[in-house]
Amino acid sequence: MNMTISLRHQHLDQMQPWSDRQHLLECLSATPEAPDVMTFTFRSDKDNWFRYLPGQFVTLELPTAPEPVMRTYTLSSTPSRPFSVAVTVKAQKDSIGTRWMFENLKPGMRIKAFGPLGDFSHIRHPGEKYLFVSAGSGITPMMAMTRYMADTGPLSDITFVNCSRSPADIIFRSELEYLARFMPNLDLGFIVEGCGRTDLWSGLKGRIDKAKIGLLAPDFMERTIFCCGPEVFMDAVRSMLEAHGFDMARYHQESFQPAQAATPLAEVSDDASMDAATSIRFTMAGRDVACAPGQTILQAARGAGVRIGAACESGLCGTCRVMKLSGEVEMNHNGGILDDEIDEGYILACCSRPKTDVQIEA
Ligand code: FES
Repeated sequence: MNMTISLRHQHLDQMQPWSDRQHLLECLSATPEAPDVMTFTFRSDKDNWFRYLPGQFVTLELPTAPEPVMRTYTLSSTPSRPFSVAVTVKAQKDSIGTRWMFENLKPGMRIKAFGPLGDFSHIRHPGEKYLFVSAGSGITPMMAMTRYMADTGPLSDITFVNCSRSPADIIFRSELEYLARFMPNLDLGFIVEGCGRTDLWSGLKGRIDKAKIGLLAPDFMERTIFCCGPEVFMDAVRSMLEAHGFDMARYHQESFQPAQAATPLAEVSDDASMDAATSIRFTMAGRDVACAPGQTILQAARGAGVRIGAACESGLCGTCRVMKLSGEVEMNHNGGILDDEIDEGYILACCSRPKTDVQIEA
């Protein structure tokens, strides 16, 4: 598909900040970073600048066939450059959404985005000095925070440790080395699992362990630590720190797994009478739907063919946020909604179960 992209250049004073959590993003560029890793940069389709915290994530609605999929990605960009946002994604063999982006997402195309959300940011958890530990594409929130500090406080004290499969797989290596030239307190430590015969590599090899952390960040016990990567990697870092007596109040990890299990669905008896069910009115679809005891609003919507976007389905990403116009629900979320949004009447459909008849704007 050939898309044209308009060259509009506006000053911040002529633009508005993001005012809602659902936006259309216009792709500006797709830039290869490493094998199977690409950065996609977007601007708002309107005259908006982007307000978010470095380290937060967005959920993208990707128009795959036969059905669109929702995928959550950390913003690798920094809010100190507010005219665009970027996600840096790694395509796995079986990834549907990310593969679609690699093959189809071109400058000029527009996709829906929800967010930003998330608590994994040094703005929320400030420290005197930081240790960023990441593996693979878990480097993206660390990059967002480092870029932000480079722009707003280049004397910030950061030890930046990244673990990758090989030297070629280190994402953002040259930019980090460039930043380290004018950030005197930015120390870089790369660990690779292995390297080929032609790789020039004099750094550390193998898996992360206490000895390597101690070597790269001898004062790690005094630092505020941010960790992001596969669950097994974060488990290893966390256990190592706990075993060392680290103050875990200064440890933060990014996980797209819920911190607490969603409430199990109540058993739905075969003979549950419809009298026991509540009723949901989806006002935009103009549908009245019976909701069995224990069913979430998202499940009831799907059963009735009412479309509500959803990604994590565990109350984490905020994608399924809808306005509740009336009635009572029990919501068991995992941080995907803010208190002031709840006060305004919003709920997350994936983890809300009606206690009474409800009206939902969907
Ligand atoms: S789908 Fe992520 S919070 Fe509901």
